[in-house]
Amino acid sequence: MSPETAPRFSQQRRHGSNAGQPLTRRDGTLKVTGRAVYAADNHPQGLLYAVTAVSSIARGRVTRLDVAAAKAHPGVVEVLTPANRPPLAHDPNEKMPPFGFRVEVLQDDGVRYANQPIALVIAETLEAATEGAVLLKPQYAVESPRTGRSSGLAFAPAAVGVGSPPRTAFGDLAAGFAAAERVTETETATPAQYHNAMEPHAIVAAWEGDRVVIDMPNQAMALSCAAYAAYFGIPAENVLIRSPFLGGGFGSKAILNGPQILAVLAARMLGRPVKLVLSRSQMYGPVGHRGHTWQKLRIGTDGSGRITALHHHALAATSSFDEFIEPAANASLSLYASPAILAEHDGLRLDTGTPGPMRAPGEASGSAALETAIDEAAEACGMDPLAFRLANYAETEPGTGRPFSSKALRECYAQGAERFGWAGRPLAPRQMRDRQGFLVGWGMGTALFRCPHFPAEARATLRADGTALVETSGADMGQGAWTALAQIAAEALGLPIDEVEFHSGRSSLPDGGIAGGSGHTASAGLALHNAGEDALARLAELASADPASPLFGAGNIGLVARSGRLHRRDDETRSESYVEILRRAGRAEVVGFAKAMRDPAAAEAHAMYTHGAVFAEVKVDPDLGQVRATRLIGAFAAGRIINPRLVRSQYFGGMIWGVGFALQEGAVHDHRTGRIMNADLAEYHVPVNADVPSLEAILVEEDDPYVNALGVKGVGEVGITGTVGAIANAIWHATGVRIRRFPVRLEDLVA
Ligand code: MOS
Repeated sequence: MSPETAPRFSQQRRHGSNAGQPLTRRDGTLKVTGRAVYAADNHPQGLLYAVTAVSSIARGRVTRLDVAAAKAHPGVVEVLTPANRPPLAHDPNEKMPPFGFRVEVLQDDGVRYANQPIALVIAETLEAATEGAVLLKPQYAVESPRTGRSSGLAFAPAAVGVGSPPRTAFGDLAAGFAAAERVTETETATPAQYHNAMEPHAIVAAWEGDRVVIDMPNQAMALSCAAYAAYFGIPAENVLIRSPFLGGGFGSKAILNGPQILAVLAARMLGRPVKLVLSRSQMYGPVGHRGHTWQKLRIGTDGSGRITALHHHALAATSSFDEFIEPAANASLSLYASPAILAEHDGLRLDTGTPGPMRAPGEASGSAALETAIDEAAEACGMDPLAFRLANYAETEPGTGRPFSSKALRECYAQGAERFGWAGRPLAPRQMRDRQGFLVGWGMGTALFRCPHFPAEARATLRADGTALVETSGADMGQGAWTALAQIAAEALGLPIDEVEFHSGRSSLPDGGIAGGSGHTASAGLALHNAGEDALARLAELASADPASPLFGAGNIGLVARSGRLHRRDDETRSESYVEILRRAGRAEVVGFAKAMRDPAAAEAHAMYTHGAVFAEVKVDPDLGQVRATRLIGAFAAGRIINPRLVRSQYFGGMIWGVGFALQEGAVHDHRTGRIMNADLAEYHVPVNADVPSLEAILVEEDDPYVNALGVKGVGEVGITGTVGAIANAIWHATGVRIRRFPVRLEDLVA
């Protein structure tokens, strides 16, 4: 079929497909009834259990492991150590492009962080493997650990985040500061945070010859298959990853880690399936975290409260042996208009595991520092924080000059402020108290997150009974992708959602791209949409070539798909059902396929972001310094909303994470031992229900015709950004104390 004769479906809004409806999660019943099978729920025949022994020191060498004692345990089958670990086809000390890190797979006796895997014990039962690991009784040559800012080794990183330049500058910074009437300078520290997904990193690996089946939670299947293939010297198509459900990922399940590779290695070595499930404390080390940052901002402002220069410097911690530099300063590149901006990063080597992407990498930490500094600049100018932001938000993306969806941002400011009642806010701090005498403060922050698009593929099969099967490999981390993507597919196919069977979570399906960067719905969704179009085009070709069809010859006129029927565009009374078209053609099905990615010209011409504004109320005990976030209102614009229930829940999740970031989260090192003292969910605090304030998310309407054919933007990470600053700024408004480190502590507020 040539492009000229192909019936056109693009830009059609179809009906009866449930897109835009607040459907509940299609997998919800499976989950609440315990029928959803997570990786660790798999028990193949002949299964062995592996447990990692991990280092209790943070720097040095393992000098002795009592392997004989462990092997003497009746249940223990094998003990893997650097002495007997079989070789890998890819050097584990080399990063695995594009996103991989150096992995800890017993390649030497060095210890580079606490909780580093130093041996793997494989046994007939979990209990035996656990006991075997204890029997190893490791001994060490201990060196003094470097886990604090003053002991770390500073260096100039080659890249930040995933391949971004460490330094980005435009405009004349010196001239900008020279033109300023005031310069506001701030310093903000953010802690190391750990992903703490409810489901630990778990894996079940089973080999058959040179093929391996791997059950594991995974955010990026095609990349992981390629990585396993490289480590094990087999073709990628010999790796089948099954990841139907994830109990959270947050970035920590996007990139392979050492324990997973060890489990696959053990299964091959022993010729039996092996299961490895990390304990909670073992997740504080080899599977990534959000690295410490220490950020300095300088903001110059002129007499009318306009920013004249913006300088954001971030010192970001990484491990002693690999680099992931939190691209925190880059948060200042995209939001506020300034004739000159400099964003730059330095690295700091510590004896910790290597950090990695964690929900809103860069923006979460960076916007915490930026939004508190912006607030302080507003105060210096004697301006209301909202008025200051309205005077300074970007109309075009700073640096590139590409049009920014600033109308959406203005709407977020306006609707959020209105709903919150911001207009009644006194300018000076310490002006409001509640009836119990608690200090009350109101603060705000701007939310912003980029809209990445990953190449993705999908297949759509229209079947003779009028139902459809749609397939793409991506994963549902709990965010509701199973539901939103099925809604998109149903819309593309002109079918009610109940007629659409949706398969994902298997690497053998068409590559669904990466479930990360808040880009999964847009990326996999576009592939599903296009695959649906392709299937309908094939169906239309059958109909318009068939003299017996009411659609005969309609190829050039165009067809509209609705509720399982194709209609002539010029005369919608002339229509035929999918079932009838397939029946007469004698076909069991038609199959559509698509490989989709963003139109590069559109991305070149337009700045693409999800926007938002977050307003916070806090109450602070004036004697004890205890802070409670009492009210949080976020207004977000993310293009077309496929499922408002799921989107709202994503915003809530982000905002709640913002509460945790501002007030609770942080890994605490004992600098004498280098160990994390709160490596569990009892001591590593995250918000529980009682910590979560009254929460509202306003879904601001936005029609963005450039971002992709669906008009869909990301919603997963934007909610964290802005929220941390909003809470910190509200604390200042309540107490008059500026926040310099997160999480905020009682002692910072009681002078
Ligand atoms: Mo995310 S940090 O892109 O899962």
